[in-house]
Amino acid sequence: MSDYVIALDQGTTSTRAIIFDHSGSIVSTGQLEHEQIFPRAGWVEHDPIEIWNNTREVIGQALSKANVTRHDIKAVGITNQRETAVVWDRTTGLPVYNAIVWQDTRTQSIVDRLAKDGGVERFKPIVGLPLATYFAGTKIVWILENVEGARAKAEAGDLLFGTTDSWVLWNLTGGVNGGIHVTDVTNASRTLFMDLETLEWRDDILEAFDVPRSMLPEIKSSSEVYGVVSDSSLLREVPIAGILGDQQAATFGQAAFDQGESKNTYGTGNFLIFNTGEEIVHSKNGLLTTVGYKLGDAAPHYALEGSIAVTGSLIQWLRDNLGIINSAPEVEALATTVDDNGGVYFVPAFSGLFAPYWRSDARGALVGLTRYVNKGHIARAALEATAFQTREVLDAVNADSGVDLTELKVDGGMTANDALMQFQADLLNVPVVRPVVAETTALGAAYAAGLAVGFWANLDELRSNWQESKRWEPNLDVIERERQLRLWKKAVTKTFDWVD
Ligand code: G3P
Repeated sequence: MSDYVIALDQGTTSTRAIIFDHSGSIVSTGQLEHEQIFPRAGWVEHDPIEIWNNTREVIGQALSKANVTRHDIKAVGITNQRETAVVWDRTTGLPVYNAIVWQDTRTQSIVDRLAKDGGVERFKPIVGLPLATYFAGTKIVWILENVEGARAKAEAGDLLFGTTDSWVLWNLTGGVNGGIHVTDVTNASRTLFMDLETLEWRDDILEAFDVPRSMLPEIKSSSEVYGVVSDSSLLREVPIAGILGDQQAATFGQAAFDQGESKNTYGTGNFLIFNTGEEIVHSKNGLLTTVGYKLGDAAPHYALEGSIAVTGSLIQWLRDNLGIINSAPEVEALATTVDDNGGVYFVPAFSGLFAPYWRSDARGALVGLTRYVNKGHIARAALEATAFQTREVLDAVNADSGVDLTELKVDGGMTANDALMQFQADLLNVPVVRPVVAETTALGAAYAAGLAVGFWANLDELRSNWQESKRWEPNLDVIERERQLRLWKKAVTKTFDWVD
């Protein structure tokens, strides 16, 4: 029997367990979606218990599909939607509130309050992030201020905070019976609380937020043995040996290990990550500074990140809220019923606008409507929105790094959409390249775990697993490209200042 590594990918819309073999190929997958809870406009929640139950179930699915047992699995890697905050009671194991999801904008007043003293860039030189509703820190504050009894319990040391990596790991390692409370540097770098230089929590920032340090997990590297799975799981005694936030995991899975390498993931949102090596680079163009990965005791690698809140979730919105398609892949057929966007631009500022604008006062806009416009144009404008947003982020990366990217490595669900990928190459005027294993997020977590237990020897071995599957070459003249970009930018300005 061969040996394998299993990756648990706790994403925004679903939880997956994927078993990989030594060549980095997928052996089997288990997957379950969880409910998206929208209690009010701008609020997005998940049920952490549902997520934990799904995690256990998808592990079972993946093992049985591959016809393997825990004895064949050498390590578990965890990757996760970042910034989504879970706060639970260590004595009962129960969350005190639903997970507040990264897309949720309810904490705007907390952001405004904190920004009064020093502006939104107040902590940016230390943590690499502006004050924004996106990051986990303000979500913890909301729970402490709004859930009855939470503040007192937190002060007594009974409440724990974690992004979903920590939540899953704590439960996998025994929960109330000795669960291990850790996270990795990449996830910690999305809270607003971690010092990028020391990779430790900052007491002065915690004080400013009024968050007790006892709630926070211990910060570990992305690749080391954190503990073993407890007796109550199908994976009992298997070491858990890798954690990476999902975007950093995708970068790792794309083998973009070195300074100057990058990737763009097309998921619920889009996230372009540019590896800056061991150097902390502060953006002048609206990008975040974040940790890319840290392998055991080795020095961390940092990254610049262009985060886009809404890309794939706009297609889900066309399906679920407008009903103009029955399934997400249908958007391609609908969008290609028309020759162009018919003058329509769709700026999906559903959670405000992230990079490069960071405008939490923005809300979505569909502009350029005439009687001529039909649902094909709207579908096309929705797809094009992903490509336009990516172009703006790539321009920021090029400006910050001083070097123009010569091609874009892509991954994620929407890269199956040929029309979008071609438009993306056209709009960027560089080739867009997709690897054979497009599940790079799970692969990256598997790599981090496999490296820690010696399943893979080194980064070179992983690099040689990367293979190109498809390439889209740019094919649009410069005048048309820049005309469309100009109209897109004009459409973006229509979304500003839309919150009362
Ligand atoms: O920062 C949010 C990101 O980690 C979510 O990724 O793939 O779950 O949409 P995804």
